Amino acid sequence: MKPSHKLLFVLCLILVLGFIFNFSGKLHQRVWGQKPQYDKQGFLQKLDVKLPAELAHQYGNLTEGVCKPGYAAAMMTAIYPKFMKPAPMFLDRNFKRLAKVSNYMPPFGFKTQERIIDIILTITKNYGLGEDLDSLSCRRCVIVGNGGILANKSLGPRIDEYDVVVRLNEAPVTGFSKDVGTKTTMRITYPEGAMQKPERYEKDSLFVFSAFKPLDFKWLKHMVFNEKLRGTEGFWKSVARHVPREPTEMRILNPYFIQEAAFQFIGLPLNNGLMGKGNIPTLGTVAITMALHNCDEVAVAGFGYDMNKPYLPLHYYEKVKMSAIKESWTHNISKEKEFLRKLVKAKVITDLTNGI
Ligand SMILES: *[C@@H]1O[C@H](CO)[C@@H](O)[C@H](O)[C@H]1NC(C)=O
Ligand SMILES: *[C@@H]1O[C@H](CO)[C@@H](O)[C@H](O)[C@H]1NC(C)=O
Ligand SMILES: *[C@@H]1O[C@H](CO)[C@@H](O)[C@H](O)[C@H]1NC(C)=O
Repeated sequence: MKPSHKLLFVLCLILVLGFIFNFSGKLHQRVWGQKPQYDKQGFLQKLDVKLPAELAHQYGNLTEGVCKPGYAAAMMTAIYPKFMKPAPMFLDRNFKRLAKVSNYMPPFGFKTQERIIDIILTITKNYGLGEDLDSLSCRRCVIVGNGGILANKSLGPRIDEYDVVVRLNEAPVTGFSKDVGTKTTMRITYPEGAMQKPERYEKDSLFVFSAFKPLDFKWLKHMVFNEKLRGTEGFWKSVARHVPREPTEMRILNPYFIQEAAFQFIGLPLNNGLMGKGNIPTLGTVAITMALHNCDEVAVAGFGYDMNKPYLPLHYYEKVKMSAIKESWTHNISKEKEFLRKLVKAKVITDLTNGI
């Protein structure tokens, strides 16, 4: 045979073998029917998953209630194989290297805001949770939502047991500690959601900023540098004019959690990567997403509304009833709930108030 014929022959052989191999694989799957089924978002359809054997073994030796290293990420990966754990909680001086967020505008990234972020991070100087929490070998986090479902459940002491207690926007602690606890590791907020009364801010808590629009970074710069805020055009309601925290107690939440929650976990419309109708996740879900990447165990409390009980309060700290809830332009509450239900059902997260 000529060398060129020999090459052709080998190529044909590879093609035929490849075909047979592929076909027998398919046949095998059809006969045994074992291929796991995934939904549109990439989550396993049957969510009754078990821990990988070696982890089950390792955790089996721990005393009941002791923090299980890597638990949340392992369970998440079991139902969502695309999950990649590394994603820093806050932006640090190397933030421009975060490839997934550098090409998106706020809220899904920081494109166009690099300069102002640089200026802010130069003065905040700290980019972690603080030495004690950063060095923990196993970290248990609880995200405290603002739902009325928290009222009168006396969960305060249980919430305070967590290493990291995350609170959102203006949800108060004073006067409600029996139900919501006393500890606040961080309070995640955006300009319109931030507490406006300086005396309400807890000492020793981090002020964590989450941007939803480019203007928000400008607001943050004013707060960090304690500059007087002049116009407040462009905000959808009144905003805090002073945040009584030192720059070293302020952080910028990694916008990746908004992007991942919206487009990968919940499946909201991409809209060319821009903010649009119904494609912004709620802050609570963004916080849970952050915790999946940065905590070994994740619990939530105060999430979910019981639509069959519209007379219950919407928030644990005010009288507004749930029936006052309006169709939201920015959020898609029902789609978001589908995602959270998957996490609870598969035991990736623990729902202390059973509202999800
Ligand atoms: C757990 O305990 C078993 C037996 O009691 C032991 O063989 C195994 O090595 C332990 N695993 C770990 C991770 O300590
Ligand atoms: C909680 O308890 C207080 C005092 O007993 C009561 O006034 C309030 O209505 C209760 N709230 C809910 C949501 O059950
Ligand atoms: C939420 O998502 C569903 C399903 O994709 C869609 O039909 C509905 O219009 C969305 N709602 C909002 C407020 O965008």
